Amino acid sequence: MVALGLKVYVTRLIPKPGLDLLCSFADTRIWEGELPPPREVLLQQVKEVDGILSLLTDTIDTELMDAAPNLRVVSNYAIGYDNIDVQAATERGIMVCHTPGVLTDTTADFAFTLLACVARRVMEAVRYVREGRWKTWGPMLCLGYDLYGSTLGLIGLGRIGGAVAKRATGFEMRTLYFDVNRQPSLEEELGLTCVDLDTLLRESDFISLHTALTSETYHMIGAEQFKMMKNTAILINTSRGQVVDQEALYEALASGEIAGAGLDVTDPEPIDADDPLLKLDNCVVVPHIASASIATRTLMATMAAENLIAALQGRMPRNPVNPQVLDKR
Ligand code: DGY
Repeated sequence: MVALGLKVYVTRLIPKPGLDLLCSFADTRIWEGELPPPREVLLQQVKEVDGILSLLTDTIDTELMDAAPNLRVVSNYAIGYDNIDVQAATERGIMVCHTPGVLTDTTADFAFTLLACVARRVMEAVRYVREGRWKTWGPMLCLGYDLYGSTLGLIGLGRIGGAVAKRATGFEMRTLYFDVNRQPSLEEELGLTCVDLDTLLRESDFISLHTALTSETYHMIGAEQFKMMKNTAILINTSRGQVVDQEALYEALASGEIAGAGLDVTDPEPIDADDPLLKLDNCVVVPHIASASIATRTLMATMAAENLIAALQGRMPRNPVNPQVLDKR
């Protein structure tokens, strides 16, 4: 039943169950383009809306909020919400929601996929076969690094970092982590060791980033950090591109300071097709797909829709970023 008068804008086509929920609740407009709505379209479309279902590709800032006087909720179709000025939203009484939990295992699976792909040089091997260069079994062909028995360093031990740590036990890895919050029960359960950042950088064979993008984590991995890493180290980033200084990463990869990188995220996104990183054999870049399983993207869609509906009904959504907004109301 459409709640009379309520208007919602969805900034891209998301899996149908989420859209169906929204359409049965409110007058719902959807931007159906493959690319995000241009800024002027977004600003125009939000003028009368009560809720926005946004993606991480939409900048939800003060300009947009001021263009949308009726706006009461921004429900982000992502766990990360660095595309939203949460403080400005809170000041305006706009609820911000996100989609934690449902993408944890899918993202952790993918961090491991990238890790194995770079360590075992899968992309180079596929290219080798496709280019007709496979003439015989080669004793020195595509030699890579073992996962089993290696040391994994996790930067950030939230839900996703924890799920990666769990997978590491199956590969008999020694897992170190660096996080401002210590997790004694996970340490015990999974045999993890909490270390300072420098120790993690020096001792890890694989370093996987699982931190949110904040002013503290911006470029937290740069030239100085690459220098501390082993020359055989491999960096995996499924968090946000800006956590890594990408120019420093290029230098580290090109000079052999580290052995490889697997990037699900880049700075900017999309990465320029001419970016020198894309010319390197030891760097695998994919288009921000770590949560991209059919099941997970569908769960994210229903979760984002349910969050938006709850907020517009004046109920506490399951996944608020700024719950204090509802208390204030
Ligand atoms: C997120 O949710 O923040 C991921 O980057 C995309 O699923």
